[in-house]
Amino acid sequence: MRYRRLGRTDLQVSELSYGAARGAAQDPRGFIATVHACLDAGINFVDTAEGYDGGQSETVLGAALQGHDDVIVETKYCPYESYRVGAAFVGTPQALVASAEQSLRRLRRDRLDVLLGHGIRTLESLDRFMTGGCYDAMVRLREQGKVRFIGLSELSEGDGTHQVLQQAIPTGAFDVAMLTINLMLQTAEESAIPLCREHDVGTVVMMSLNQSSGQSGLTSLPAALELIRRYIAEGQLPDEPPWTEPDVLDFLEPYPIPEAAIRYVLSHEVSTCCVGMRSPERLEANLRALEPPYLDEARLQRLRELFGRIRRQVF
Ligand SMILES: NC(=O)c1ccc[n+]([C@@H]2O[C@H](COP(=O)([O-])OP(=O)(O)OC[C@H]3O[C@@H](n4cnc5c(N)ncnc54)[C@H](OP(=O)(O)O)[C@@H]3O)[C@@H](O)[C@H]2O)c1
Repeated sequence: MRYRRLGRTDLQVSELSYGAARGAAQDPRGFIATVHACLDAGINFVDTAEGYDGGQSETVLGAALQGHDDVIVETKYCPYESYRVGAAFVGTPQALVASAEQSLRRLRRDRLDVLLGHGIRTLESLDRFMTGGCYDAMVRLREQGKVRFIGLSELSEGDGTHQVLQQAIPTGAFDVAMLTINLMLQTAEESAIPLCREHDVGTVVMMSLNQSSGQSGLTSLPAALELIRRYIAEGQLPDEPPWTEPDVLDFLEPYPIPEAAIRYVLSHEVSTCCVGMRSPERLEANLRALEPPYLDEARLQRLRELFGRIRRQVF
């Protein structure tokens, strides 16, 4: 396993990390086995959130990580009614502190390594987060030693061009940003990633496989072709060859689509590629992508030509 610096936190994080959003409630034993396989492979960074699997993600993770205090855990407080794009902002400093305290209990830890504001989706709600007490509450938790580092995650289906991060990162307020870049939604390459580098903010990449629903996503060739069809239907890609051809992605061979997707992310200057995986077999497949230089310039260039115009995430 290779490790990369998580920006100004100076933590060294594994280039592949574990996204714990799914599986804890449905199959806790499989979830724990996957977490342990990740640790055996050298993964030292795990992403969760208070809301994942109704709190079960943190709870089962807390059990799985007993005796593994060296693993870096990132969790989040969501200041919205739900994860839906248009959901109302309901964040308060009291709720943020209560959420962080609950995360500490569920994770069975004395402090949270990274606490993020979860899915900040509009400039207006970023302003409310910063000026309405939530941000100050995060800073106080950090001063009290309950949180080591603070940051934000974006909501790419609402903000595909990273307006929130473009506003938030230069303020210097945050140590870590969780953002989307994948081989179809490439916008972070132009804006968010260079900005994070400039301000020495750690970058945790989410949705490397576009949070696949199984039917559409970067998890298999048919699912990736379906995702292209959805971008065409949205008017973000032309309804013509090569996008309509079944061989449009053949240039990625010999890599299977999920491996190519992880290689694509790791070709960028990001700290870690965080992938949701619900079995050690998935992990095994994804470890194959950890081979510098990940993807050659010809494939990267072709991906830019094909998908560089996409501005908004589609699932
Ligand atoms: N706004 C936010 O803050 C936000 C939003 C989204 C996600 N996140 C975080 O980012 C993490 C990663 O995102 P995600 O899990 O939603 O999406 P993702 O990593 O893009 O996709 C995960 C999906 O890919 C599948 N998969 C993984 N490796 C595979 C392989 N080798 N072959 C085929 N399928 C494979 C998984 O299937 P199985 O489950 O069947 O293994 C899972 O369904 C999440 O866990 C979460 O922690 C944060």
